[in-house]
Amino acid sequence: MNILITGGAGFIGSHVVRLFVNRYPAYKIVNLDKLTYAGNLANLKDLEGKANYEFVKGDITNGDFIMKLFEERKFDGVIHLAAESHVDRSISNPTAFVYTNVTGTVNLLNAARHIWKDYRSKLFYHISTDEVYGSLGREGLFTEQTRYDPHSPYSASKAGSDHFVRAYHDTYELPVVISNCSNNYGSYQFPEKLIPLFINNIKHSKPLPVYGKGENVRDWLWVEDHAAAINVIFHHGRKGQTYNIGGGNEWKNIELVRVICRIMDKKLGRPAGESEKLITFVKDRAGHDLRYAIDATKLKNELGWKPSLQFEEGLEKTIDWYLNNEEWLDNVTSGEYQKYYDEQYLNR
Ligand code: NAD
Ligand code: TYD
Repeated sequence: MNILITGGAGFIGSHVVRLFVNRYPAYKIVNLDKLTYAGNLANLKDLEGKANYEFVKGDITNGDFIMKLFEERKFDGVIHLAAESHVDRSISNPTAFVYTNVTGTVNLLNAARHIWKDYRSKLFYHISTDEVYGSLGREGLFTEQTRYDPHSPYSASKAGSDHFVRAYHDTYELPVVISNCSNNYGSYQFPEKLIPLFINNIKHSKPLPVYGKGENVRDWLWVEDHAAAINVIFHHGRKGQTYNIGGGNEWKNIELVRVICRIMDKKLGRPAGESEKLITFVKDRAGHDLRYAIDATKLKNELGWKPSLQFEEGLEKTIDWYLNNEEWLDNVTSGEYQKYYDEQYLNR
């Protein structure tokens, strides 16, 4: 099989590429990535020189380039992860999210539709988020039947791309599958998202900006469990279907932040309670969804997937990874990014 993985130099993509390259030596894996601020080839250093792996630098918003790539490479399957992925950035610059997440996805769908002759052995797998379902109150879970109700420009752009993927299935019979996953955590996540940002800030004794009162709830899943779910769905998911992926692991932000602070105090040999002093309540995110939580029963019952790690273990492993990979962390947070972050923080 010849497989195109888009966004493979990003956080989740790098784990998916690694899993496929290592587990399937007979597959050829092409990783297509623009290498935006969030994409980093250092995430895949261990795969350099592997015979079944190739990196191609390119932009999915360039329709001609994508069409040519499909013509030349004869892909059998696509796993599409490339996206602008950070909600706060989508609030300050929504247009970039429309280009990459909506137009980029439609460019890939067009190429698959026109270049693939026999659809029977092909699959277009679109990776999405639970944020398309909007916000839950204190009770209930998102199922595959939950009505789409996105609130942020990020989730609106992902919802738009999901609708296009389904439209190409319903209109042109393109073989597609979609999964909607909850918040991921783990190694190689760009430190603008909550968990790696706070680990890095604690390390440098910088303030920990908790939005609003920290009452919002997220359902956290270890990234390698997400990659394992993607593997199962790619090979065994039913075409035209949607699968929700989640860890059944809900945390209020403020409680999660306190756990991170406690583990960091221990790891850094600081007195207990030291890191918590860095917690700073700041202006809430505009349109901040109160709660996300996934019902992954369909995936568990149909395909036998389940998360492998307990959260406490995963969180400690993750903190160890960021502390042991100082060079990676310093590189991605240097230069332009640090300037951007400091400006955003000052403007809150
Ligand atoms: P990320 O921001 O870490 O990585 C995105 C990757 O896409 C980067 O390598 C970037 O260079 C690449 N990219 C961006 N624009 C591109 C373009 N125009 N052309 C080619 N490549 C481009 O994101 P992530 O957190 O790894 O998320 C990956 C996917 O999973 C996204 O589709 C996201 O919506 C979805 N998702 C993420 C989470 C999460 O918690 N992070 C949860 C559920 C779903
Ligand atoms: P984030 O990691 O950006 O993921 P998402 O918004 O896609 O769920 O944020 C996770 C939660 O943490 C969310 O409720 C917003 C909150 N948050 C903060 O309180 N402070 C921060 O600096 C960040 C980045 C997020």
